[in-house]
Amino acid sequence: MTDQPPIAAAASRYDEVYADWQRDPLAFWAQAAEAIDWERRWDRVLDDTRPPFYRWFPGARLNIAHNALDRHVDGGRAEQPALIYDSPMSGVQRTLSYRELRDEVARAAGALRALGVERGDRVVLYLPMIPEAVIAMLACARIGAIHSVVFGGFAAPELAARIDDAKPRVIVSASCGLEPGRIVAYKPLLDRAIELSSVKPEHCLIVQRPQQPAELVAGRDIEWLAAVAAAEPADPVMVEATDPLYILYTSGTTGRPKGIVRDTGGYAVALRWSVEAVFGIGPGEVMFTASDVGWVVGHSYIVYAPLLAGATTILYEGKPVGTPDAGAFWRVASEHGAKVLFTAPTAFRAIKREDPDATHVARHALSRFGALFLAGERCDPDTLHWAERALGRPVIDNWWQTETGWPIVSNCLGLGLLPVKAGSPTKAVPGYDVRVLDDDGRETAPDQPGNIVIRLPMPPGTLPTLYHDDEGYRQGYLERFPGHYLSGDAGFRDRDGYLYVMSRIDDVINVAGHRLSTGAMEEVIASHPDVAECAVFGVADALKGQVPLGLAVLKAGVERPAAEITGELVALVRERIGPVASFKTAAIVKRLPKTRSGKILRATMAKLADGEPYTVPATIDDPVILDEIAEALEAARKA
Ligand code: COA
Ligand code: AMP
Repeated sequence: MTDQPPIAAAASRYDEVYADWQRDPLAFWAQAAEAIDWERRWDRVLDDTRPPFYRWFPGARLNIAHNALDRHVDGGRAEQPALIYDSPMSGVQRTLSYRELRDEVARAAGALRALGVERGDRVVLYLPMIPEAVIAMLACARIGAIHSVVFGGFAAPELAARIDDAKPRVIVSASCGLEPGRIVAYKPLLDRAIELSSVKPEHCLIVQRPQQPAELVAGRDIEWLAAVAAAEPADPVMVEATDPLYILYTSGTTGRPKGIVRDTGGYAVALRWSVEAVFGIGPGEVMFTASDVGWVVGHSYIVYAPLLAGATTILYEGKPVGTPDAGAFWRVASEHGAKVLFTAPTAFRAIKREDPDATHVARHALSRFGALFLAGERCDPDTLHWAERALGRPVIDNWWQTETGWPIVSNCLGLGLLPVKAGSPTKAVPGYDVRVLDDDGRETAPDQPGNIVIRLPMPPGTLPTLYHDDEGYRQGYLERFPGHYLSGDAGFRDRDGYLYVMSRIDDVINVAGHRLSTGAMEEVIASHPDVAECAVFGVADALKGQVPLGLAVLKAGVERPAAEITGELVALVRERIGPVASFKTAAIVKRLPKTRSGKILRATMAKLADGEPYTVPATIDDPVILDEIAEALEAARKA
């Protein structure tokens, strides 16, 4: 894999820029910070007096919504499209210029303020891909409130867990979301989540969608449209660069989601720099990020980065296939003149399955289309090569995480591309010092696998901590290899310094580019009254990369038919975690394979399920159990 011939060899400034950063990181970021409007400049670029905790641009003050909107309105882009909403799901297209978006955001900010939301207050957003999602995020940022967006595919208990942790004063939601073939009623999920949570918001602002309006709770719920129409526009509130802009919850190894904190100043600097250097998007250009505002990719490259650059962003409410066909992305890119498309490899696997010869591409004029970026999961070489052939454009794999907020390893289009090696997202982006360490903390030799870590301090825009949980941040990420941030991913680096990200070192799985915790699913299954113990692990899936599979051992004396119980387990995970978990397969087994110390052998079972070679651990309690598991997996697959 590592010695493939490069497919493109353009002149690149990457080495030079990376060396510039290495020579003087603080000067590098101070220079990048010149692209942002500050009300007050920083006292120092980096506060490193409290390692392993670092703060960027302490003493500086700014407003990120001002930087994303007002400065472009004042700077000659008032009539340029800022946001293009394209929704095959509802048949609506709407373009908001920078002036229109700024004005709507200012009024929405006024509406939040009228409900008592002030700087530092939290606002939870549970919204589908509609303009109000972007407007609400920027409205929070305008008044210094901290938004926390929850992806619409999560069920009420997951939303409740986030409400309990973030303690929002207000929640913004919508009556419904639109999925192919069904309307997802959001409002009952919201009501249920509020019922379940111990913290109750004072008010909910509800966007009523014509497809299915919701009943409002008197005294608590207020219709978004009416509230915004009645509001006085709010001016931007200047905040400290180190103030939190948002909290974004992500899956860890337990059922409890981790609240990733994003600061304001460092994030603005990193995004403004990366959107141009990594993604090659400058002022006036069009970026099409086909993700969801509920994920980090949506926060950074649907909302903040393109707007900070004075570019146009596309908000797409649809799927890569079926809305109406496998040419949907090309139609959108062509109609709105996108220079870059950014999505997850799973979307391309879906397109390839429907349109293996890429016949749809030729039906759309893509003269302005420059490159495809893929992230969110490992990009398998087949998908990469297929996309390259289909598009005849560079296809750029990039590796990062909710925690970092922007790419750690990528080919940098704005700096000139390096040769592509399939299976590798290329090299560390300037700002990141990426290493591969063995379990004893020594750097591995080329091509030798290990833990992928980042040397501290990480660059601006990366998480300063977990929400009100410094200790959790330290224990989860910083203690394993002192002086380094533990990414949770494993892989290797080749002789040319290209990184290969191969797997996770924990129980996190990646389903259709969505990060999920198998631990959380096990907690749900274990709560079923008939289940004595269980294991959930990820198995390979041709479309989604991985899907979860659950095995359960029943309590003694339970005589009900297995199919009835597995059906209940599938329904329970959907009800408690949500459809996004894609938990569709469960089987009942007599016993689970364990080590003599009682550790369940999940990784061995995953290999068994995938038909991969595995070694039976010497510490296994009873090897015969693996044969029983193989039979159960085979039966589950057939069912
Ligand atoms: N609100 C409510 N439900 C949602 C939802 C939302 N915002 N998003 C997804 N769901 C539901 C889906 O309808 C599906 O429900 P089902 O079990 O009833 O079919 C379930 O959650 C699983 O969704 P998903 O894993 O996305 O599968 P899918 O079959 O609907 O679509 C793809 C598969 C590949 C087309 C889709 O995952 C995709 O476009 N992914 C690429 C882009 C992306 O979102 N990347 C994320 C990070 S960059
Ligand atoms: P999330 O925080 O939801 O963005 O998920 C981040 C995780 O997704 C990473 O830690 C990786 O496990 C995986 N991931 C994201 N991008 C890539 C990539 N380009 N290659 C391999 N894995 C990736």
